[in-house]
Amino acid sequence: MIEKDDKFLSAYMNDRRRIVEEALLHYLKPQDNISSEIHEAVHYSVFAGGKRVRPILCLAAVDATGGNLTQAMPVACALELIHTYSLIHDDLPSMDNDDFRRGKPTNHKVFGEALAILAGDALLTEAFVLLSRAEKIRLPAEGRLQVIQEIAYGAGISGMVGGQALDILSGNLVPDENILTEIHRRKTAALIVASVKAGAILSGAPKGKIDAIADYGENIGMAFQISDDILNVTGDRELMGKETGSDAVLGKLTYPSLLGLDVAKQKLNEYVEAAIDSLAGFDERARPLRLIARYIGKRQA
Ligand code: IPE
Ligand code: IPE
Ligand code: MG
Ligand code: MG
Repeated sequence: MIEKDDKFLSAYMNDRRRIVEEALLHYLKPQDNISSEIHEAVHYSVFAGGKRVRPILCLAAVDATGGNLTQAMPVACALELIHTYSLIHDDLPSMDNDDFRRGKPTNHKVFGEALAILAGDALLTEAFVLLSRAEKIRLPAEGRLQVIQEIAYGAGISGMVGGQALDILSGNLVPDENILTEIHRRKTAALIVASVKAGAILSGAPKGKIDAIADYGENIGMAFQISDDILNVTGDRELMGKETGSDAVLGKLTYPSLLGLDVAKQKLNEYVEAAIDSLAGFDERARPLRLIARYIGKRQA
């Protein structure tokens, strides 16, 4: 049974990754040949080999709520652009100061800090160009606005940017589990909540279903960052394509640093189970979402 689930999920994720990559290539085609340097910097990080977890989650939420995948593609891609911008900025010397990402030198190592900042700015802005153009999103204006608002909210001060600010300042805070949960909820879970919620909204799902999917997103978002913290201690640098051991060097407030590895692993499993419980009211079409939660619980990269 477990083997069958693994096979199903790996085929599902490979297929979804492929269609997301194709769509990203299409959306990021240069519109002119004036600004080639910035295009190069953007392309470098977007096509460096990310797992595409957020777009895949968005599409899996569409599947779970019986929606249309083609219609969701611009939204799924916009989420990946925002995520990639967050990684480029996260790696800057003034932030986590990382040299290695997605198996390659970080953006600022190759293009310099100024262009790396601009590449991040460009990706964030182009994401909203994509969301607002979205001729393909056949959804009444109100629903489309709701999707844009959820994503902006997840990426902004209440979400990712606010969480990143707390994370950067966490070295000066008295270590505390409530603060740590708040950092992870905002810096990582918020964009993941937006990803799955956007999928459910695009399908025209009823409020009860959207709320349940948001709950799922919050739980796997927490699980995702806790596993990132654990892998920063125990993971394989080559497999992950990024540096390990760096959280301890930077004195970051993380689950392993505050509670130890064993408790961190226990918390990770609790969030995975809670995520799966959130989907109790969903049928077999939510199988990918359920299996993705399990995958987050045991991922090695
Ligand atoms: C890394 O995200 C940053 C976190 C929020 C933990 P991913 O692990 O999804 O990174 P990519 O997209 O596969 O490079
Ligand atoms: C990243 O958190 C969260 C973002 C919003 C980018 P980390 O700084 O812990 O992620 P990695 O380990 O560098 O990918
Ligand atoms: Mg960081
Ligand atoms: Mg980092």
